[in-house]
Amino acid sequence: MKKADIGLIGLAVMGENLALNMESKGFTVAVFNRTTDKVKTFTESRAKGKNIIGCYDLPSLVACLDRPRRVMLMVKAGEPVDALIESLLPLLSPGDVIIDGGNAHFPDTIRRTKYVESKGLLYVGTGVSGGEEGALNGPAMMPGGSKDAWPLVRPIFQAICAKAPDGAPCCDWVGPDGAGHFVKMVHNGIEYGDMQLICECYQMMRDGLGMKSGEIGDVFARWNETELSSYLIGITADILRYKDENGETTVEHILDRAGQKGTGKWTAVSALDEGVPLTLIGEAVFARCLSSMKDERVQASQLYSRQIPPFEGDKDAFLEQLRRALYAGKLVSYAQGFALMREAAKTYGWTLDYGAIADMWRGGCIIRSAFLGEIRAAFRRDLDLPNLLLDPHFKSSIDDALPAWREIAAYAVKTGVPMPAVTSALSYFDGYTTASLPANLLQAQRDYFGAHTYERIDQPRSVFFHTNWTGRGGNTAAETYTV
Ligand code: 6PG
Repeated sequence: MKKADIGLIGLAVMGENLALNMESKGFTVAVFNRTTDKVKTFTESRAKGKNIIGCYDLPSLVACLDRPRRVMLMVKAGEPVDALIESLLPLLSPGDVIIDGGNAHFPDTIRRTKYVESKGLLYVGTGVSGGEEGALNGPAMMPGGSKDAWPLVRPIFQAICAKAPDGAPCCDWVGPDGAGHFVKMVHNGIEYGDMQLICECYQMMRDGLGMKSGEIGDVFARWNETELSSYLIGITADILRYKDENGETTVEHILDRAGQKGTGKWTAVSALDEGVPLTLIGEAVFARCLSSMKDERVQASQLYSRQIPPFEGDKDAFLEQLRRALYAGKLVSYAQGFALMREAAKTYGWTLDYGAIADMWRGGCIIRSAFLGEIRAAFRRDLDLPNLLLDPHFKSSIDDALPAWREIAAYAVKTGVPMPAVTSALSYFDGYTTASLPANLLQAQRDYFGAHTYERIDQPRSVFFHTNWTGRGGNTAAETYTV
């Protein structure tokens, strides 16, 4: 019997679709699922007549595989991955590869890479983005882990992944241990930010301008023809124009409580750990939390009832300002996301290629967009660019968008339409582009109450001073420590 090129464990929708995708590219796939009924159903339905071998226990799956064996896990992130690794290790041999294609938290992937390598095997943690359709027709893939595994998984991954508009595969080696899952996590954080920005524009059009869903959908469809062209803007236009069998607009019947599985939160927590201001993604995560407090919000809306004033002005001009504000917010979000990757790379000892990451995200994944081509170009111009806002192309984009961005933020604040991502992105921009912030006062306050010391503008950096502000304190400074 022909041996399988790869084994795939976990036949939920992503696993099934990836198996079908691999098979369609000429690979033979052995599949297994803990609830074995699923194996039967799959091999007798969607996988029928294809080079997909159904296996009913792990030893049979392993026995089917060509060496070095490649086993990909498409199971729920967390404990199930550790349990499967434990079950697989005694069945596999040195040089075999275990691949985790779920949304694992990157510290787990760092730990698992070390552990699996200590047993003589290779480990790959790969981000897979694009939802069920992407898994079937070509996802973006972000693999990291044991470098020696890359030549073994590359032929399969680069065959099944999405291709960017210029034909480049949306899959490349990201880096050691948890680097691939880290980059996928930041991708998801950026996804949260993009979605929040789009939702804020929707709310402004709906509540600020009094527009109907279909009309708003048409605006997003037009925006999709501009530099905002992206998968998320495209699906937003579709969603807003979608009507059910009774002719009702479905989106208007959906309860405004957002769910989240945690990758956005991980991105924000990682930013706090690294000390990187990732305000936009943070706002996006908190906006989801706020949305989920539906009953409390309804109560508060009665206590603080307000009427959003009817819009008086040039609606088309306002919509163009809104589009520019969305673009500027998006730019801030990506600038912050890439800055986070740069800091984390230092912490974890990774060498990340930011141009290549932008490249990989151009196709297949949820945040795919024309904009990523501009980001790739910025990193090609300057590999060490510390922040996208410093790139000359993006500088002129911001110059163009800035007056509109300020108008929209001001209008939102004045009328009470919540736009936390758009407005906080502007605050970040204003802070980032201010040479002199009030942290001199903040340092004085810290020194006043806790003798925490400060640096002086007329002295070299890292020389610390303490003032006895009240005449009552001593001249002893607190120990210098950072959290
Ligand atoms: C992707 C997505 C995917 C994510 C879902 C749900 O790249 O295909 O990012 O990995 O799990 O979009 O995420 P939330 O439930 O947190 O919104």
